Amino acid sequence: MQADDLPAAVRSGDTIAVALRKMRLIINHGLAARAVDQDGGLDARLLLLHGMKLSHADLIATPSHAVSGLEAETLTGMARLRGAGTPLARLTGEAEFWSLPFYVTDDTLVPRPDSELVVEAALSRIGRGMTRVLDVGTGTGCLPLAILSERPQARALGVDISHGALAVADRNARRHGLADRFATCLSDVYGAVQDGDLFDVIVSNPPYIETKVIEGLDSEVRDHDPRLALDGGRDGLEVYRPLIANAAQFLHPAGNLIVEIGYDQASSVGALMAEAGLGTTLLHDLAGHPRVLIGHKSDPI
Ligand SMILES: C[S@@+](CC[C@H](N)C(=O)[O-])C[C@H]1O[C@@H](n2cnc3c(N)ncnc32)[C@H](O)[C@@H]1O
Repeated sequence: MQADDLPAAVRSGDTIAVALRKMRLIINHGLAARAVDQDGGLDARLLLLHGMKLSHADLIATPSHAVSGLEAETLTGMARLRGAGTPLARLTGEAEFWSLPFYVTDDTLVPRPDSELVVEAALSRIGRGMTRVLDVGTGTGCLPLAILSERPQARALGVDISHGALAVADRNARRHGLADRFATCLSDVYGAVQDGDLFDVIVSNPPYIETKVIEGLDSEVRDHDPRLALDGGRDGLEVYRPLIANAAQFLHPAGNLIVEIGYDQASSVGALMAEAGLGTTLLHDLAGHPRVLIGHKSDPI
């Protein structure tokens, strides 16, 4: 490609409105080069707000404000990375989940909207009293923190095999004023959860992608989400096995195990639940795909 085919960089002295237009062109150029049929207008706007530390209201009020040399460089760099496939959340360092902002780092999965179904299922099964929630593979802490944000009497423990992820979950708990009801613990599934500790709900969105499928994933996932958060082993079920087989010993009698599943895992994960003596309920996402399996120790409530 000729250098003069490249969209112009943002320059010192450009107004915000001009910078925004240039960023959108840079992103769209990168997306088109990767044959991604998408418009980068919204991402350009969100990156500009992040790069210049502005609110939406500031942007509307000051479209003729000029950007500095340093800001111009930052904005151009972020737009080029976004066009080249770096996910928006990796550039801004945060993502929205359950309408709350969560810090994300290279150690965490970017929370996905589909996982909100796990939160909905948990909320519909716990009352408003004192309840205890365990999240296995907590990542950013998005699942238990979303639940705690809706249930002022509830407490939660988030466990993960990644030190880095737990540090992010703790930061997110402080960000949302929930640190006094949320604890974290480094643990391989239930390995470090105390015997005799009982929970009303265990939630989990474990890594569930078959190892051999990972190479074929979209590069925005494969190259940016941590392998630990994606790789479910040879058959995608490696974390589900101990998660499901040992759930009953950490659940109250009326407790529920609520897990996110891949679109084609309802029968394999359901079979693991049946083997563990759990009754099951399957929930579908908005696209109609199986998305959440609930295991009950006793009859569903
Ligand atoms: C798919 S991510 C889910 C993160 C977060 N719960 C969410 O929904 O965005 C899976 C998480 O499980 C963690 N993990 C992987 N293997 C684990 C294991 N054996 N025990 C505990 N956590 C594990 C990963 O580090 C990662 O944070």
